Amino acid sequence: MNGPYLELAGASKSYDGGATQAMDIPSLTIAKGEFVSLLGPSGSGKTTTLMAIAGFLKIDKGKILLNGRSLETVPPHKRNIGVVFQNYALFPHLTVEENVFYPLRMRGETRSAAQSKIDRALDMVGLSGAAGRHPRQLSGGQQQRVALARTLVFNPDLILLDEPLGALDKNLREHMQVELRKIHRDLGVTMIYVTHDQTEAMTMSDRIAVFTNGRIDQIGTPDQIYHRPATRFVASFVGDSNILSGTAIGEDRLEVDGLGQMPLTNPSLTGGQTFDVLIRPEIIKLRPAGQGTTGHDAVIEDSINYGESHLVLLRVGDRSLRARMLSTDMKHLRPGDKCRAEWDPAYVHLIG
Ligand SMILES: Nc1ncnc2c1ncn2[C@@H]1O[C@H](COP(=O)(O)OP(=O)(O)OP(=O)(O)O)[C@@H](O)[C@H]1O
Ligand SMILES: [Mg+2]
Repeated sequence: MNGPYLELAGASKSYDGGATQAMDIPSLTIAKGEFVSLLGPSGSGKTTTLMAIAGFLKIDKGKILLNGRSLETVPPHKRNIGVVFQNYALFPHLTVEENVFYPLRMRGETRSAAQSKIDRALDMVGLSGAAGRHPRQLSGGQQQRVALARTLVFNPDLILLDEPLGALDKNLREHMQVELRKIHRDLGVTMIYVTHDQTEAMTMSDRIAVFTNGRIDQIGTPDQIYHRPATRFVASFVGDSNILSGTAIGEDRLEVDGLGQMPLTNPSLTGGQTFDVLIRPEIIKLRPAGQGTTGHDAVIEDSINYGESHLVLLRVGDRSLRARMLSTDMKHLRPGDKCRAEWDPAYVHLIG
């Protein structure tokens, strides 16, 4: 990673006389050219953080620096930051190219001088052919792309996107995800992308910051967030999970609530330490009862068919566990069957 490009230090914002902590970020640094997603449930502070960076909202405390320079006294239109809002209000009475021209007009450019920039921005979002249309003559996805072109046209240093694909159907959304990634790569521009869709965050981001209650619980690569979540909240918010309580009973063994003893492969525990134990559903392997003695006795309570895979609801001891099985591995297993459930301890993650 390069040095920090955008930096938030002790930045916070509260409402209702301090009763609602909308944002509280001791430290967040983003490198030039990174694609970082802000992921979190509704009300967790994602938009507040974007608006603070864009300058539409004044923080109570702390600093925001862009390229080493404090933004405190820099008004929004002087920050050279592009923002694509969730409700991408295009001007209905202006054509597509007039909409895209708008930010340049605000910066004092003449239409004739700006034309090549407008053409280039529309070309990047694949809308060259729609330059003369009005927003009402466009689909939702096309309007979304005009909003993006309107941001790209002034060549911002940083682009902030607040759930820009929220209103689109699944296919268009996936198409736009690919387009956005391509624009990010081609321009090398730094992007901060707000979403509450974890799949979107996983597939698009260099790093993901997981928000809850105005705070960032963890920031890391998609792999780190998925495989080594720092908190119970991150583990449960990102991906499907089984989270159990465990207590170390030696260097490399845990007593897990309701499951019994479990060996581990990272033997540096101290007896009595307690953990949240994360077992992702896809690490669980099932085989018919009577085959071998390793693993845990289990009963299949239900199985939900997703086509290529099944979500299997298991009873193990007095615990319910979720397992994810390839359909091809489910051939001999039915609800009601007894089986053995086993997993590689190397894939079990402890949250301390
Ligand atoms: N102007 C305001 N006055 C009072 N409280 C506010 C204001 N704006 C935001 N909040 C509160 O701040 C918190 C964070 O809001 P924010 O809009 O940042 O959430 P979000 O993560 O963007 O959520 P969503 O996914 O629903 O868009 C919420 O509890 C919200 O109710
Ligand atoms: Mg929001």
